[in-house]
Amino acid sequence: MNITVIGTGYVGLVVGACLAETGNTVIGADVDTGKIERLRENILPIYEPGLDEYVERNQRQSRLSFTTDIAAAVASADVVFIAVGTPPDEDGSADLRHVLDVARTIGNHASRELVVVTKSTVPVGTARKVASVIAESARFPFHMCSNPEFLKEGAAIEDFMRPDRVVIGVESDHSRSVMAELYSPFVRTGKPIIFMDIASAEMTKYAANAMLATRISFMNEIANLCEQVGADVDNVRKGIGSDSRIGSAFLFPGPGYGGSCFPKDVKALVRTADDYRVPLRVLAAVEETNEAQKHRLYQKLVALDGPVKGKRIAVWGLAFKPNTDDMRESPALVLVDALLEAGADVIAHDPVAMDGARRRLGDRIAFVENGYDAIEGADALVVVTDWNEYRHPDFARIRRLLRSPVVIDGRNLYDARKMRALGFRYDSIGRGATS
Ligand SMILES: NC(=O)c1ccc[n+]([C@@H]2O[C@H](COP(=O)([O-])OP(=O)(O)OC[C@H]3O[C@@H](n4cnc5c(N)ncnc54)[C@H](O)[C@@H]3O)[C@@H](O)[C@H]2O)c1
Repeated sequence: MNITVIGTGYVGLVVGACLAETGNTVIGADVDTGKIERLRENILPIYEPGLDEYVERNQRQSRLSFTTDIAAAVASADVVFIAVGTPPDEDGSADLRHVLDVARTIGNHASRELVVVTKSTVPVGTARKVASVIAESARFPFHMCSNPEFLKEGAAIEDFMRPDRVVIGVESDHSRSVMAELYSPFVRTGKPIIFMDIASAEMTKYAANAMLATRISFMNEIANLCEQVGADVDNVRKGIGSDSRIGSAFLFPGPGYGGSCFPKDVKALVRTADDYRVPLRVLAAVEETNEAQKHRLYQKLVALDGPVKGKRIAVWGLAFKPNTDDMRESPALVLVDALLEAGADVIAHDPVAMDGARRRLGDRIAFVENGYDAIEGADALVVVTDWNEYRHPDFARIRRLLRSPVVIDGRNLYDARKMRALGFRYDSIGRGATS
């Protein structure tokens, strides 16, 4: 099939590369000239394990190409995926400007019967708006679909190639059969393609992210209570996660959720509910809890070791989660801001997100290429992101390098008793201070 994916960010690039990998001819189109030029040279704008190989192989074998000529890319397509950004508007609702711009281009330039797929996360009713914009100028029949994306950054290729399920909102038999054919290579192990109406597909994406965000905020609040009552949240997590009605995923407490999806999607869903005058009280609390949780690491540091003014604080991990360089809404940004505002010097390390962090933070903090260099002479270490390389560090070396043996572990990576035995003053999330 001839497929055009408009938007070559985290989602568009993965979707395009994976659809090319299964034999389709795919054009990735984007307005960002620099990004497209680099992609043509196989230089990726993002860090995503395995994606570089897919892009390189499929470009070399002429199944994948990149262009800024969106009109031409639309004209040659049987299926167009819209995968542009939907950032939060000032009031928290999803900003659909880019999506509707693309719809206009599709209407003006489609040259044959077309399936149009919204891949971006968009509020209920968006496919309908896209359809009416396309219809203003379309000269050929087109079929709207909503196909929300559930990939996780850091495991995006695996998630797309072997999804738990594929959700597709359709309105015609034609789009249903085109989409079933397109996705058939990805569901050979029997995972379902769930066809439904478009509004339900749009809603499913928000409900999924809202549920996952709820689990995280719920566990963060349970963790905070564990600290007060003398319980260990890690035990509680295992105790409830083994219940098949609950399951173990997304129950890890931490410094709050971040990234490009949960914060904006929770806000957008609350905003949609406001428009319909349906109160989503649980989600409003989820968001409030998360905002508060992002300040916990700073608060814990001050509680354990006093004011940070004039101190040098080492930060391990800047990305909002491991295996990605995505800094959007990362809790590390909240921590760094609080530290700087209180007069600390910050020296940070991240295995892949430092370029992105530099773009956001400039020279307000120092960056080092090796995690241990951050610790040398520091008054405390705060671990924010659970990268593998931070899981089993050389504690004796850390102890030696730190000026004062203070460790705040925002991901419960370390054994509290062992840390205390090694002479650290240590705190983590939901397990009580052990200083
Ligand atoms: N990142 C994720 O993990 C993830 C997962 C599922 C769904 N989503 C959703 O997918 C959508 C895209 O997210 P992303 O993280 O890939 O965003 P992104 O910011 O990484 O990429 C968006 C791309 O769209 C391009 N673009 C913007 N306007 C355009 C236009 N008019 N024409 C052509 N290109 C245009 C931008 O230049 C950019 O390259 C969002 O709605 C997001 O909520 C994201």
